[in-house]
Amino acid sequence: MASLSLNQIRVGNPAGELMTRPAGLRTQKSRSKVGFLRVVAEAGAGSKVDPDLSVTVNGLHMPNPFVIGSGPPGTNYTVMKRAFDEGWGAVIAKTVSLDAAKVINVTPRYARLRVGANGSTKGQVIGWENIELISDRPLETMLKEFKQLKEEYPDRILIASIMEEYNKAAWEELIDRVEQTGVDALEINFSCPHGMPERRMGAAVGQDCDLLEEVCGWINAKATVPVWAKMTPNITDIAEPARVSLRSGCEGIAAINTIMSVMGINLKTLRPEPCVEGYSTPGGYSSKAVHPIALGKVMSIAKMMKAEFNDEKYSLSGIGGVETGDDAAEFILLGANTVQVCTGVMMHGYGLVKQLCEELKDFMRMHNFSSIEDFRGASLEYFTTHTDLVRRQREAIEQRKATKKGLQSDKDWTGDGFVKESESMVSN
Ligand SMILES: Cc1cc2nc3c(=O)[nH]c(=O)nc-3n(C[C@H](O)[C@H](O)[C@H](O)COP(=O)(O)O)c2cc1C
Repeated sequence: MASLSLNQIRVGNPAGELMTRPAGLRTQKSRSKVGFLRVVAEAGAGSKVDPDLSVTVNGLHMPNPFVIGSGPPGTNYTVMKRAFDEGWGAVIAKTVSLDAAKVINVTPRYARLRVGANGSTKGQVIGWENIELISDRPLETMLKEFKQLKEEYPDRILIASIMEEYNKAAWEELIDRVEQTGVDALEINFSCPHGMPERRMGAAVGQDCDLLEEVCGWINAKATVPVWAKMTPNITDIAEPARVSLRSGCEGIAAINTIMSVMGINLKTLRPEPCVEGYSTPGGYSSKAVHPIALGKVMSIAKMMKAEFNDEKYSLSGIGGVETGDDAAEFILLGANTVQVCTGVMMHGYGLVKQLCEELKDFMRMHNFSSIEDFRGASLEYFTTHTDLVRRQREAIEQRKATKKGLQSDKDWTGDGFVKESESMVSN
């Protein structure tokens, strides 16, 4: 996990040379790295340098870090081809298993949360629940399409998402058949929260570290391409299965899959949504509303990876509620190498990638970052314990006493100066 060094921040020159921080800045605003970056940003605003969005992850080169997340946007040849044509950095296909005949979907299988009252049909969609299963298309058909895509787009990255039952021979057969199509990597779906766990698949494995270790062992003994383990957030400490997956030979972690949810109850019919013949089942929550939760999970995985697997050979893919370049920048600032988008594509279409790239470049220009590595992981070190926040605050208050900035105690609030006193304690 690369992190930015205080004295070695690349400042956007085309050659990517390292620039040493000017000594004068040290005493002014550069108490923190963020403070310094702001200074550089001001100095470099309006830079003409075109930032380089390309990334190389586990040896796989992508034109940008934006990856189609496994789901409807990667269900068949036509849509995956469209994703490549529009410029996505990589495509992860909808999860496949050996026997698609066992996968029986229902309709409706989606329900949306809008800003507004219960059942509102207006307002921005911020949450999306699905009770969709993995691919219900025959494996043979999906494999033929992977092969065709790799023949037509040999330089683009196609990743197969796979899932099987608790059966070593089944995993080995699936890996063998999928690899023969020429896919570049495998993402293992240890995380689907609905339907599949009833068959001891998906989250049923991702939530049980003993099972996970055993299955990862089978997979990594067989696979000859990089393997990413996709994590479920429906667990107390997501860093634990991530650690087990990396120790068991996986090259990367992808997080998060959807969050177990009940979208809502129709207050007229008293039936839950999405309603299938009057009944429902808890599903997986995605879209904008999950973004802060995903950031929290990615942060804890990234911290663990930095502490225990600080090696370029491991990668992290951030997923959850990405709709803008800024959303993506947040994942990268926490240490993600790539960023996946699923529901965002379902809502805005494949052309979204162009906007994502432009917005991410705008962010990079603002800070004079010339490459993704220039800022990957840069915000990670600003997470600490609450006890440490209290200590830092106590020390800062001591220092500010001289200038009387902010209030020392609740007894200091006054009626007349109340608004100014509130303002004095706001951070931005
Ligand atoms: C309708 C739907 C189907 C999905 N199917 C899969 C799947 O087959 N395999 C998988 O690993 N993740 C699947 N996901 C999860 C997404 O890949 C992603 O992890 C999650 O939705 C969070 O990202 P997002 O907010 O960008 O959608 C699905 C998500 C949705 C909304």
